[in-house]
Amino acid sequence: MSEVIVVGSVKGGTGKSCTAQNMAVCLAMRGHNVALVDLDPQKTTEEWFVERRAHLNLVKISGYIPTGSAEDLIKSIRPLYDFIICDAGGYDGAYQREAIINADRFLLVLRPKRRDLKALPMIDEVLGRGMQYNPDLKINTLINQCNPLPTQVKRILDAKYVCESYDFSPLQTVVMHRNVFDDSEENGRGVLEMPDDCRDLKAEAEVNDLVDELIFGIRPSDKGKVA
Ligand SMILES: Nc1ncnc2c1ncn2[C@@H]1O[C@H](COP(=O)(O)OP(=O)(O)O)[C@@H](O)[C@H]1O
Ligand SMILES: [Mg+2]
Repeated sequence: MSEVIVVGSVKGGTGKSCTAQNMAVCLAMRGHNVALVDLDPQKTTEEWFVERRAHLNLVKISGYIPTGSAEDLIKSIRPLYDFIICDAGGYDGAYQREAIINADRFLLVLRPKRRDLKALPMIDEVLGRGMQYNPDLKINTLINQCNPLPTQVKRILDAKYVCESYDFSPLQTVVMHRNVFDDSEENGRGVLEMPDDCRDLKAEAEVNDLVDELIFGIRPSDKGKVA
């Protein structure tokens, strides 16, 4: 059974493309058959695939862009993959709406910033409309690009609290602001694919935690538990 995951929001720059790419790399490295669909006319992920082609030894991910409707594309490739990850644009467009209606999960990516939190009523409306057609859609929020200073923990907790009030189930996993996300994206890699001298183990752990929690239901606090 394939799973369709839309990574979206109604704001740009929150880290949707970066998150979608890193999830795709992580799942593919674990042996899953993965498609990554770029639904954003800004083409961030399409360009990432172009960079990626320059490296021969990276894990295989199939890339798609819609030529007609996003719905037709998702339906046609669903039987071919274990996971289909859709990188949606940062606004309420037709592609994102069609993807929401045809998805199993929606991952909302937000920064712990007022500007992103202020967009929640609009996301609520977009998702509410989509769920009239797709009532089984599972929704989670990833708080991304967090400041790792201990004094900033409250901002992250406050952002989670607001997301909870909308029923957008914030993940226990949070992703910090780390340069390796930017550096890896620039040359078509995920953080799990960086050469040894450029690796960032904390970023790698965050990506693994995200996939474990979102897709396999294993929260960071459950890891290491034996009973
Ligand atoms: N956790 C992070 N730490 C550092 N930089 C990040 C992180 N997440 C995303 N970025 C960077 O922020 C910028 C915007 O991210 P992007 O994924 O393109 O956003 P969106 O798709 O939501 O518009 C990119 O340069 C990306 O590499
Ligand atoms: Mg993007």
